[in-house]
Amino acid sequence: MDINAVKNAYRRYAPGYDLYFGAILDHGRRKAVAKMNCKPGDTVLEVGVGTGLSLPLYGSSVRVVGVDVSPEMLERARFLKERYNLRNVVSLMEMDAQEMDFPSDSFDKVAAMYVISVVPDAVRLVKEMRRVCKPGGEIYIVNHFRHSNPLIGAVERCISPLSNMIGFKPDFSLEEFISKTGLEIRDRMPVNFFGYWTMFRTVNAK
Ligand SMILES: C[S@@+](CC[C@H](N)C(=O)[O-])C[C@H]1O[C@@H](n2cnc3c(N)ncnc32)[C@H](O)[C@@H]1O
Repeated sequence: MDINAVKNAYRRYAPGYDLYFGAILDHGRRKAVAKMNCKPGDTVLEVGVGTGLSLPLYGSSVRVVGVDVSPEMLERARFLKERYNLRNVVSLMEMDAQEMDFPSDSFDKVAAMYVISVVPDAVRLVKEMRRVCKPGGEIYIVNHFRHSNPLIGAVERCISPLSNMIGFKPDFSLEEFISKTGLEIRDRMPVNFFGYWTMFRTVNAK
C-alpha cells in the first residue's frame, strides 16, 4: 500500500467510518486506554487517530495529541473534539506518522489503534513511535493480525491483493512484525468480537 492509496481509502471511509468501525472496534480502544492507566499530566500521542473515537476515553488531565494523514478523517476528529469540549486534546495534526515532526522523547505513551496494517511501512512507523516516545515510556498497539486458524488465514491471504482498495492488509503477520521491529511484548490480550484483534503493550527501551 502506498500513502496515496491510504489517503484515497480513508477519504472514502470518512463519512461512514464511525457507523461501520465505531462500535465494532470500541472494545479494543477502551482496553488500550484503560491499560495505559494515565496519570495527570501524562502526554499521549495517537498515530492514525482517525475520526478521534478514542479521544473521549482519556481523562481530562491527560494531554493528547493526534496525527493522521487523512484530512477528511481529521476533520471529523476536530468536530468530535469540539462536540465533547475536549480541551485536553491539545492538537490534531495532518502528518505522516512514518516521518513525524516531533522532537525525540516527547511523549509518555504512544498508541497506534488499528493503524499498523494500514501504513505503507509498519517497521518505519514503529521506529518513529519509539523515537518520539520517552525512554521507559510505553507503546500500545491494537490491530488485527493474520489468523492462526488455517482456513481463516487462507481467506485473509486471498483478499490481501485488495489491500489498496480496502485500506488495510488483512493477512498482516504478528510474528513477522515482531521479528522485524524487535518489539518486546509485555502484555497481550485479544479484543473485540471473538478476540479477532489483539492489543499489546511494549516498553520503550532505547
Ligand atoms: C482503521 S483507521 C483507525 C482510526 C482510529 N485509530 C480508530 O481507532 O478508529 C486507520 C487510520 O490510520 C491513518 N493512517 C494510515 N497511514 C497513516 C500514516 N502513515 N500516518 C498517519 N496516519 C495514517 C488513516 O488515515 C486512518 O485514519
